[in-house]
Amino acid sequence: MAQGTKTKSVWFCSNCGNEAPKWMGRCPACGEWNTMVEHKVESGVQKSRAAGRSAAAGDDRRPMRLEEISTSSADRISLGSAEVDRILGGGLVPGSLVLVAGEPGIGKSTLSLQIPLGCPSVRTLYVTGEESAGQVKMRAERLGGDSSNCLIYSETQIEKIISETVTVAPDLVVVDSVQTMFAESADSLPGSVTQIKEVAAALLRFAKESGIAVVLIGHITKDGYIAGPKILEHIVDVVLQFEGENRGSYRILRSIKNRFGSTSELAVFEMTGSGLREVSNPSELLIPMHEQGLSGTAISVMLDGIRPLLFEVQALVSSAVYGTAQRSATGFDVRRLNMLLAVLEKRAGFHLSAKDVFLNMAGGLKVSDPACDLAVICAVLSSNFDFAIPADCCFAGEVGLSGEIRPVGQTDRRITEAARLGFRKIFISSFSKTEGSAGDIRVVRVADVPSLVKLLFK
Ligand code: TYD
Ligand code: MG
Repeated sequence: MAQGTKTKSVWFCSNCGNEAPKWMGRCPACGEWNTMVEHKVESGVQKSRAAGRSAAAGDDRRPMRLEEISTSSADRISLGSAEVDRILGGGLVPGSLVLVAGEPGIGKSTLSLQIPLGCPSVRTLYVTGEESAGQVKMRAERLGGDSSNCLIYSETQIEKIISETVTVAPDLVVVDSVQTMFAESADSLPGSVTQIKEVAAALLRFAKESGIAVVLIGHITKDGYIAGPKILEHIVDVVLQFEGENRGSYRILRSIKNRFGSTSELAVFEMTGSGLREVSNPSELLIPMHEQGLSGTAISVMLDGIRPLLFEVQALVSSAVYGTAQRSATGFDVRRLNMLLAVLEKRAGFHLSAKDVFLNMAGGLKVSDPACDLAVICAVLSSNFDFAIPADCCFAGEVGLSGEIRPVGQTDRRITEAARLGFRKIFISSFSKTEGSAGDIRVVRVADVPSLVKLLFK
C-alpha cells in the first residue's frame, strides 16, 4: 500500500444503495433493517478513480458547445432480437455498461448467451465465472445458433478479463456474474460490496475508454438482501431486470434505468426447452383463456413504456379466519391496495375490514401504473359480490382518495389497443379529455367509485 493512504469505512445499504458514514440498524433512506454493510475505501484510490472517470469522456476534454459534439445514433448495435433492442432503446450503445439483474435461475445466463449465438454479426466475449467452459458449451448446444463469432472465457479476475478483452477486441463482453468476479486491488472476498463496486468501476472505466459494450450479470434475491445490483444501479448506464415466477415459464425483462432510452419498457419471454422465446404480443398471453363467468377478475389496460398492455387482475375476498384481516398482493403495492380498500370503505360504504383480501397480477407481472387502480377495485368488488364482470370489459383509471376516478395518460392508445384485442367496453374517467373511440369499442366514462358500482354491479 502506498504511503500516506488512509483507509476509512463507509456503510452501504444493500437494499437501496444509500451511503452512510456509520453503521445503522435501519437504513434511513429505504427503512429496511439490517441491510447496512461495511465498505472500506482508501482516500488515495478515490481520487484516481474520479480521474479515471473523467478520462472516460475522451481525450479532447474542454468545454464545448452542444453542436460541436458529434453523436451518431447509427452506432447502436442491433442484437438481433427485436424485443431486446426495443428495451435498450433501439439497440446496444457501444461503450455502455448494462446490468442484467434477477434472481438466480431466472434465465440471465441463458438470455445473455442466446443473444450472441443468435446474432453472429456481433463479436462477443462471454466471460463465465460461474459455470465451466464445458457447461457453457452444453448450454450453447441446447440453445442452438451460430457460435462462430462468440468466444467463451472462463476467468474471474477482472484485470485479466480486461487485458484479454483488449486482445480479442469484441463488440460486446458479457460478464457472468458480478458476484463471482474479483479485482486484485481490493482485498476482500468476491461478492462483497467492496469487490462488486471495484469490479463495476473497472468495467465502467474500461467500457468508456474502449468503446466496447459490457453486459454485467448480477444476482438479486427476493428480499434484495444480497449486496450487489442495488448498489450498482447508480454506476451502470442501463439496468435490465429479469422478473417472473420461477415455476412458471414466462419471464419479464424490464428496463428500470436507461441513459439512452425510455424506462418502464418491458418484454415478455417464454422459457422453453431450447432457451427463451420472444412473445411479441404479451397481451394475448396475459388475458385469461377461461370462459366468461368467473368472479374476482378484471382486465386492466396499463402502459409499458409507450406500449399498452392488457392483463388480468385477480382478487379473492373472503371472511377473515383470524381476528385481523390479511391483505396480500403479488405484483402490486400492498400499501396501495390498503389505500384502495380504505377508499371503498369510506366513500362507497363497503365493509371490507373483516375480510381477507388477496390480490394477484396475472403472469407474474409487477405493476406500478396507477391506471390499474380501477381494475383492482373492480376485481375486489367482483369477488366480494361473487358477481362476474363481463369478459368484454376492461378498465383504465386512477382512483383518488375521495373516491373520484382520475384520468390517466395516453388514454387514446389504451382504447385503440383494447379495441384491437376485441374488447367491447372500456371504463375510463369522465374527466378524461380524450374524445377517443376506436372500432366497435364503447367508451364508458365514470366519475367516482359509487357510480362505477351502480353501473357494474346493480
Ligand atoms: P439460467 O440462465 O442459468 O439462470 P441464471 O443465470 O439467471 O441463474 O437459467 C436456468 C434455468 O432455465 C434453469 O432452471 C433451466 C432453465 N432452462 C430451460 O428451461 N431451457 C433452456 O434451454 C435453458 C438453457 C435453461
Ligand atoms: Mg447464471
